[in-house]
Amino acid sequence: MARLVKCTAKEPYKLETSDKTYYICQCGLSKDFPFCDGGHKRARDEEDGKLYIYDENGRVEIST
Ligand code: FES
Repeated sequence: MARLVKCTAKEPYKLETSDKTYYICQCGLSKDFPFCDGGHKRARDEEDGKLYIYDENGRVEIST
């Protein structure tokens, strides 16, 4: 079974508690989900209005 989830964020959400700061993944590319592992850097050169599919081999741009 597979599931496609659309994510548009390119940076994590910074969550500050009284004793610690967490970076929560919003891009969907983290291998340490729900925490950011820097995987969002793979999405930095995405172009607005285009759709990409990522897997363990890289990414593919889908014509829309
Ligand atoms: S926001 Fe997803 S890996 Fe950083």
